[in-house]
Amino acid sequence: MKTVITYGTFDVLHAGHIRLLSRAKALGDRLIVGLSNDDFNALKKKSALLDFRNRKAVLEACRYVDLVIEEKNWEQKVDDVQAYAADIFVMGDDWKGKFDFLKPYCEVVYLPRTEGISSTEIRDELRGEPVLEAGRY
Ligand code: CTP
Repeated sequence: MKTVITYGTFDVLHAGHIRLLSRAKALGDRLIVGLSNDDFNALKKKSALLDFRNRKAVLEACRYVDLVIEEKNWEQKVDDVQAYAADIFVMGDDWKGKFDFLKPYCEVVYLPRTEGISSTEIRDELRGEPVLEAGRY
């Protein structure tokens, strides 16, 4: 059985996330998501509309996700890869090269990011005027 692992915040889950998760799952048999907790997001200066508990509930309902674990810091990835016997580590290519230090432990794959959608854009839109362009996302 091939295990794939990926990490992220996955706030207001959107089609870009789903495409990433579906392609990650297709690389193996089991997909584990390391979901950044709220303290780690604060450390990364990454904002999220939904808290950890709610982001986890949404991700767990996604058909491509088999297990959600908590991401608490930058350093845990080597331990996670070993503890969960991950064969492949996946991230979007906005992170290209950043996790090559995992190559002694597993295959490292950067998948093309989906253009034109992000949690930041959705949060900005929600904060501002009502969406004028129907079906923008
Ligand atoms: N991702 C993607 N395509 C997008 C948005 C995200 O492939 N349009 C991928 C990222 O590359 C990452 C994973 O989804 O591997 C989780 O990304 P995350 O940072 O949680 O999502 P963003 O929408 O980029 O969030 P933000 O705008 O807050 O940075």
